[in-house]
Amino acid sequence: MFDKNTYIERRHRLQGQLDTGIILLMGNQESPMNYADNTYRFRQDSHFLYFFGLDSPGLAGLIDIDEQKTAIYGNELTIDDVVWMGPQPTLAERARRVGVNETTPYGSLEGHLKDALNKGRPVHFLPPYRADNQILLSQWMDIPINIVKSRASEALIKAVISLVSIKSPEEVAEMEKAVNITRAMHLAAMRRARPGILEAELAGIVEGIALAADGQLSYPAILTVNGQTLHNHYHGNTLKEGQLVLGDFGAETPTHYAGDITRTFPVSKSFNTRQKEIYKIVLDTEVACIEALKPGIPYRDVHLYAARMITEGLKALGIMKGDTEEAVQAGAHALFFPHGLGHMIGMDVHDMEGLGEDHVGYGDEMERSSQFGLKSLRLARTLMPGFVLTVEPGIYFIPELIGQWQEERKHWEFINYEKVQQYRNFSGIRIEDNVLITESGHQILGQPIPKTIQEVEAERQG
Ligand code: GLY
Ligand code: MN
Ligand code: MN
Repeated sequence: MFDKNTYIERRHRLQGQLDTGIILLMGNQESPMNYADNTYRFRQDSHFLYFFGLDSPGLAGLIDIDEQKTAIYGNELTIDDVVWMGPQPTLAERARRVGVNETTPYGSLEGHLKDALNKGRPVHFLPPYRADNQILLSQWMDIPINIVKSRASEALIKAVISLVSIKSPEEVAEMEKAVNITRAMHLAAMRRARPGILEAELAGIVEGIALAADGQLSYPAILTVNGQTLHNHYHGNTLKEGQLVLGDFGAETPTHYAGDITRTFPVSKSFNTRQKEIYKIVLDTEVACIEALKPGIPYRDVHLYAARMITEGLKALGIMKGDTEEAVQAGAHALFFPHGLGHMIGMDVHDMEGLGEDHVGYGDEMERSSQFGLKSLRLARTLMPGFVLTVEPGIYFIPELIGQWQEERKHWEFINYEKVQQYRNFSGIRIEDNVLITESGHQILGQPIPKTIQEVEAERQG
């Protein structure tokens, strides 16, 4: 938790962006795994954490803009709670640590909101992503459950995005910690991989490091010999000589800031020639895109720069052909690079994605493309100092997609399908880092993680 002035200041700035009404920020509830008392590890809502800092279930924060009042709704522990959970500071004490002097029983929130609605006062809330909060909002606000999300306050969404997008130095320090724990996870994966080991064993080692740092994974780990499947959470394969391992995983710090790093390494002690050639294209693209980062440039341009570099690289190998600019315009490169170059990152690994990707990554600045590949770009807008984002180009050979495009003769003028078939079983390579946009350029977060061919091979060779 940060100093209470951080939270006071954030709430002050938030309410300054809205004209009138009540801001309601819902904390999360415990979530049952298989019965009510056997719960998933608790994860507080990131926006509640940002403005109210308290990391426990059953809370809601309320800011009355017109009356200039702030309160936390939640219940004090009963003696029964203390018997099962041990002594805890009171909610009133905890609220004071985040600069809130008023606490009110959770049960009174409904009446308070209904009263405000009866008076015609706007109640601003964010789109709920958990079913329990969606049900509560539906009941409290008298909105049919299926349209609760659409009734979220656009003014509040935009205000939250404008604040959360700009990371403060104390947040950046937490994000550095997240990347450094993530680095230890990647080093362990590279060092402990060997032919014959199950992906799950490596995934367990990696997750253990996040847990041992008093955090957790910031998203389910991707650790796979089938890197061509973009979000592959299957860990049942045994590593074999000659394969590539794609590891895309990160730690969340105890303060809930996320790391999101990808490295790809050979199961054998070194890359083979074909792997080196594709790796080099991805590496050069990643490094060049990071080099290009500075305030004032649209991230969409950097994505298209990556697409051009990948196209050029694949042309040099005879996999693509034709005019680079035309190929990228047409979206032909997306056979090999079907996702976006990156996204914002903060307390959510895809930062604020629950508020709507287009609000976060496009704003009023540009329309999202519907073209295959480009439509998956989550961040397109102009970069500002304080943004933290990922840079994560990749090249994949997805047999099913190749098969379909070849059958349709899709982009045949830019793709040499005969050559592509030779790479059918190549799998995929992605390299990802987390980068802060500074006043003058950029800064890669965390200590360096082996990335060049020489560095990765050195790690594999111990
Ligand atoms: N870890 C998922 C992603 O890179 O966006
Ligand atoms: Mn990732
Ligand atoms: Mn990412």
